[in-house]
Amino acid sequence: MDIVSVKTEPYSDQTFGTSGLRKKTAVFRQKHYLENIVQSVFDSLNGFEGKTLVIGGDGRFFNDEAVQTLIRLAIANQFGRIIVGQNGLLSTPATSHIITKYNAFGGFILSASHNPGGRDGDFGIKFDTASGAPAPVALTTLFSERAKVIDRFWTIDLPDFDLSLLGERAVGHSIVQVVDPVADYAAYMRDIFDFPAIKKMLAGGFKMIFDAMNAATGPYARHIFEEALGAPAGSVIHGTPQPDFGGLHPDPNLIYAKHLADMMYADDAPDFAAASDGDGDRYMILGKNFFVNPSDSLAVLTEHLHAIPFYRGKINGVARSFATSPAVDAVAAAHKIPVYETPVGWKFFGSLLDAGKITLCGEESFGAGSSHLREKDGLWAVLAWLNIMAATQKTPEELTRELWRKYGRVYALAHNYESLNAEAANKLMMDLNAELDTLPGRQIGGLTIRQAFNFSYADPASGETAADQGICLVFDGQKRAVIRLSGTGSVGATLRFYFNGLSGKRLNDTPQAFLSDIVAAVGTLTRIAEQTGRDAPTTIT
Ligand code: G1P
Ligand code: ZN
Repeated sequence: MDIVSVKTEPYSDQTFGTSGLRKKTAVFRQKHYLENIVQSVFDSLNGFEGKTLVIGGDGRFFNDEAVQTLIRLAIANQFGRIIVGQNGLLSTPATSHIITKYNAFGGFILSASHNPGGRDGDFGIKFDTASGAPAPVALTTLFSERAKVIDRFWTIDLPDFDLSLLGERAVGHSIVQVVDPVADYAAYMRDIFDFPAIKKMLAGGFKMIFDAMNAATGPYARHIFEEALGAPAGSVIHGTPQPDFGGLHPDPNLIYAKHLADMMYADDAPDFAAASDGDGDRYMILGKNFFVNPSDSLAVLTEHLHAIPFYRGKINGVARSFATSPAVDAVAAAHKIPVYETPVGWKFFGSLLDAGKITLCGEESFGAGSSHLREKDGLWAVLAWLNIMAATQKTPEELTRELWRKYGRVYALAHNYESLNAEAANKLMMDLNAELDTLPGRQIGGLTIRQAFNFSYADPASGETAADQGICLVFDGQKRAVIRLSGTGSVGATLRFYFNGLSGKRLNDTPQAFLSDIVAAVGTLTRIAEQTGRDAPTTIT
């Protein structure tokens, strides 16, 4: 086997965003595009010779080819062992778990997460470090810098590996090991949750549906819900990963999983439904005729986490992104644990978890996770809900309403303006930033702005800082808006507007009705329609 050095030219657009590098699939398929970024990651790191690298992806179009490329580069760069999911498949949380379980140096996840897949869809790559956490900003900055000047990569001249067969194969000084993507992760879930209690609930006639959206979690969900927990065959729908996700947009929310919501709002709805995204780190929870807002979900999980054996007596604190509604704050106060407010993106939770400052964390974008691993984990969140329902004998609606009655309801809405002209979106943010000092005290549409600032963060554990994370507007009447540019889009720019409001006793409004005044006020302030040429958001979640 010969290691070859291949000359290459840098690309100017290989900048890591909120969650790795994400682009149109066609961009990733350009000559040496993938090789450049992978070699840039290796060139930015030290001391991995002879160590283990984990590689997997969510099965989207180009996954097969990309996995083969990564294996070749990993061997040429002297990794000792390369662990690959069978057929190139690994969910994001399972990758994170395998990295720590086998003391790997790190791992690559090939996924554009909740973005659509296929030839005309999106592709992406993320790097997790030895702790199983997404590479922190200090590292991703190095990756992006290196990619700007890269002029060669190392690879080997070998045909494709057969990734359908489990087992090991020696290649030069390296070993390529193909593993069952599900087994280790499923065993870990058994250690965390009270499987017998969930099994008993399912055997007692409790009906659930899990929608894997034709993406990575299908095999995991079939194994865990149907085989291990005894849910009837067919409880997992869209359970076979497909390169184009069978035409579904694998983002578990009321828009892209409308088919599931429709089932849950029908007369014969099952008791519980959940869905996950492309790479299995997001989740959505539905009860009969009831949607659990992800910010409320984090609050419910915090309220009842002690019902789950793994966490009993070990709950140190909770973290949420600043775009996530503060629903969890009152719960944490009642449980006498601290709440940390971070920038958007999972990479900020890793150091808080490593330092033992938090046990649980979540985002409004349908992400939750815990000290069990360093990525967000969709199936974990679903199992947590099942465990809590089994322990309390309460439905999702009962658990959520109980929370609202006890702590007050925090209404939350997100308005997303996707694929905007990047200049227009940047201008809107710049205009608003320039005005920040003049905003406190200003009245718009009957609401008064109390505070206006650009969110910056100093990690209480690592000291790492992150400035310019988005604009926060605090209004009188316990209402709040956050405005920021997305870091995961692949076309133009995406602006996200998040609105929340604490309601006190008003528990039965719709978020749209309760927050209509602040939505209108922020629309007027930012002149969103005029500045972007859009009269409505692309999605409301
Ligand atoms: C989005 C979400 C963020 C999440 C990320 C990765 O990032 O808003 O909460 O961590 O996807 O799933 P954004 O596009 O807003 O930068
Ligand atoms: Zn994801």
